[in-house]
Amino acid sequence: MSGERHRIEVMHGVNLDQLGRRDPRLYGTLTLPELQRQIEADAHDLGLLVRFFQSNHEGAFVEHLHSLRAGADAILINPGAWSHYAWAIRDALEIAALPALEIHLSDIEHREPWRRLSVVRDLCFASISGRGPEGYRDALVALREHLDGESA
Ligand code: DQA
Repeated sequence: MSGERHRIEVMHGVNLDQLGRRDPRLYGTLTLPELQRQIEADAHDLGLLVRFFQSNHEGAFVEHLHSLRAGADAILINPGAWSHYAWAIRDALEIAALPALEIHLSDIEHREPWRRLSVVRDLCFASISGRGPEGYRDALVALREHLDGESA
């Protein structure tokens, strides 16, 4: 992939369009457009291309994963509450067959017990949680390292 910028599909799941209205102690104060502007700026610094998708509809999220095939080099995915039970999203992520990194703003390991299960985790080469919006920058760095390693 030398000379070309890696394309990262940033996917936000259910209720993430409501950032800014959700508990700031868990999710921070940024709205989704603000978070996306931060991700866009970080991606630019890192030489990555990002594209964003958000939906509150599981079928739309699944179909977007189906559509990715040649449209992205990797996926940065925060499925929101779907992370904990949406097996159809897990299957669609497997079908997408792209390197994926799972991210959560809050620390899902240290909240309610039902949030400890992530149905997508084992399909992802890494998982970041509890670092708030900053975690997205760490995720982009990890994705770049991973993709650079693959193309070396
Ligand atoms: C979340 C964690 C989920 O448990 C929760 O349902 C969300 C957001 C996070 O980013 O911390 O909606 O994925």
